[in-house]
Amino acid sequence: MIEVRELVKDFGGFRAVDGVSFAVPAGQIFGFLGPNGAGKTTTVKMLTTVLRPTSGTVLIDGHDAAREPLAARRCLGIVFQDPSVDNELTAAENLEVHGVLYGVPAAERRRACEELLRFVELWERRDEIVKQFSGGMIRRLELARALMHKPRILFLDEPTVGLDPQTRSHIWAFVERSARERATTVFFTTHYMDEAERVAQELAVIDHGRIVARGSPEAIKRQTKAATLEEAFIALTGHSIRDEDASPADQMRQMSKLWRGRR
Ligand SMILES: Nc1ncnc2c1ncn2[C@@H]1O[C@H](COP(=O)(O)OP(=O)(O)O)[C@@H](O)[C@H]1O
Ligand SMILES: [Mg+2]
Repeated sequence: MIEVRELVKDFGGFRAVDGVSFAVPAGQIFGFLGPNGAGKTTTVKMLTTVLRPTSGTVLIDGHDAAREPLAARRCLGIVFQDPSVDNELTAAENLEVHGVLYGVPAAERRRACEELLRFVELWERRDEIVKQFSGGMIRRLELARALMHKPRILFLDEPTVGLDPQTRSHIWAFVERSARERATTVFFTTHYMDEAERVAQELAVIDHGRIVARGSPEAIKRQTKAATLEEAFIALTGHSIRDEDASPADQMRQMSKLWRGRR
């Protein structure tokens, strides 16, 4: 469903993603792990056609992301690392706008809006302005929005960062249910190792723009002779503190570019 070959992204003289290759079969839940600044978000942006790769190929359900970005985009739903809902709109209006942008017919929009808001348990709150929502509610709304146009692949960039354990487990329950009931392929990034271990069937660990390990959580622990995935992660990526992070403003610019259909 996702095929990536020798993907590279340079920002000026800096190589953020350095020759990444992997494939994700249909229906799989794939976790992309790495410390801050490793290149996770940059990779997600290239896979979702938001950023153009410096070199390399991305195939999304067989569509070349560089040559057929619109076809690729129709196959995918995205939850970005930073909140990207419209605070001035209600929950239902946020879904409606997304449905219109993706060309979902009006009757189907109404149906999907109700189904999805019930799915993420926000139906009772549908007419409230999003500004009043908690972080967890906004995440659930973003998840519902990402599913509005029935994407075959769901991309989640650190979907649970900063949320309490109850809300995190809630979010993953929704994602797993969506993968099961809608046969959605899921690509997520995280640096919560407990989540990665519980949710992902297959993992790749990225550091300094390169994949340093691949396999099931069990296989990665075996490779590094670690008792836990957390230990394996430290063994693979070292102890140094990583302060890098992309700003929310950068994320918003990428989002608005995506809506305008440009890159
Ligand atoms: N638009 C940009 N311009 C310059 N450097 C960037 C840009 N976006 C990301 N980077 C840099 O690329 C590296 C990887 O960033 P990112 O993909 O956001 O990492 P992660 O999501 O794994 O934390 C970081 O060093 C970051 O500072
Ligand atoms: Mg990131």
